[in-house]
Amino acid sequence: DLGEFAHYMLKEIHEQPTALENAFRGRLDMSEGTCKFGGLNLSRQDIRHIDRILIVACGTAWHSGLVGEYLIERYARIPVEVEYASEFRYRNAPMDKNTLVIVISQSGETIDTLEAQREAQRKGYHVIGIINNVGSTIARENDGGIYQHSGPEIGVASTKAFTSQVLILSMLSCYLGRTRDLSYAEGCKMVKAVQELPALIKQTLSLADSLKAVAKDFAKYQDFLFLGRLEMFPIALEGALKLKEISYIHAEGYPAAEMKHGPIALISEDCPSIVIVPDDETLKKNLSSVQEVRARKGKVIIITDSHEIPSSLADEIIIVPKAHNCVLPILMTIPLQLLSYYIAVELGKDVDKPRNLAKSVTVE
Ligand code: F6R
Repeated sequence: DLGEFAHYMLKEIHEQPTALENAFRGRLDMSEGTCKFGGLNLSRQDIRHIDRILIVACGTAWHSGLVGEYLIERYARIPVEVEYASEFRYRNAPMDKNTLVIVISQSGETIDTLEAQREAQRKGYHVIGIINNVGSTIARENDGGIYQHSGPEIGVASTKAFTSQVLILSMLSCYLGRTRDLSYAEGCKMVKAVQELPALIKQTLSLADSLKAVAKDFAKYQDFLFLGRLEMFPIALEGALKLKEISYIHAEGYPAAEMKHGPIALISEDCPSIVIVPDDETLKKNLSSVQEVRARKGKVIIITDSHEIPSSLADEIIIVPKAHNCVLPILMTIPLQLLSYYIAVELGKDVDKPRNLAKSVTVE
């Protein structure tokens, strides 16, 4: 039932405050400044002994894994590697003894992710899943897991499932961190940030009308660059994927500074850039990337939580609420979802059922 919404994708974008609340309900422990998960099937000793994490997934879920890499390395100080499931399953990569494998899948049925899980289990690794679809094959076969509780996702382009995956990885980084070097005070800040997230998402969703207007101006372009640094780099990748899958517009995500090593050749008045600019130590660097784009006549849309960026620096500045770094990537994602949605609608595309795509990929 679509209710007031024109498409499932839009409905699911707007369901994110609830979907994310469902992802953290019962999993926050303010008194200990940590998060807790019932189904990992790992003792505290097991957790302490993890010295490497391998995240395996496809598509959007792989992007959430990349955000997880930044968050887990920052808050838990455990080295993380993220692999495409389709590569991992055939690569026979050497792995460390105390590696925890995490598979991420909305559907729980993606064949490459399932086979990657089976391969890791064959080698004796403990595999936990971050899965939305309860009772799916991957969820039934793994050694433990965290359900997303996002509710059914019908639009082919993943929206609420992605932000829920990122949130769970953020909470996991808090939990893993608290078994190691993350302080009680830092843990409490993270837990509080998670609790406050649904309200901040509601605020971010109120940008929908301005993004609709931006989409009208930008729907005519055939190429886009999405740029971000650190954990905003995978958010840039995800923004580019959303745009290409539902609008059929060519889009590429890059770490902002990597642009200079090739993609800058694409920039012209015909190729706009969307730059994610968090108000942190990367702000100045990101703004210099913005200037490099504009010096080549490229149009720029900035997505930021800073109120201090002069409006003359970009063609459009979209401001999301301020939030703790452990949840900010989620807030930055929402304008990108809305932008690609409205561009696709503007172009008259079949948003919920883009050409050539299926909701779950059960063939190789
Ligand atoms: C993109 C999208 C796909 C899926 C990918 C993995 O919007 O939906 O890239 O993320 O096919 O699917 P799951 O998460 O079901 O394993």
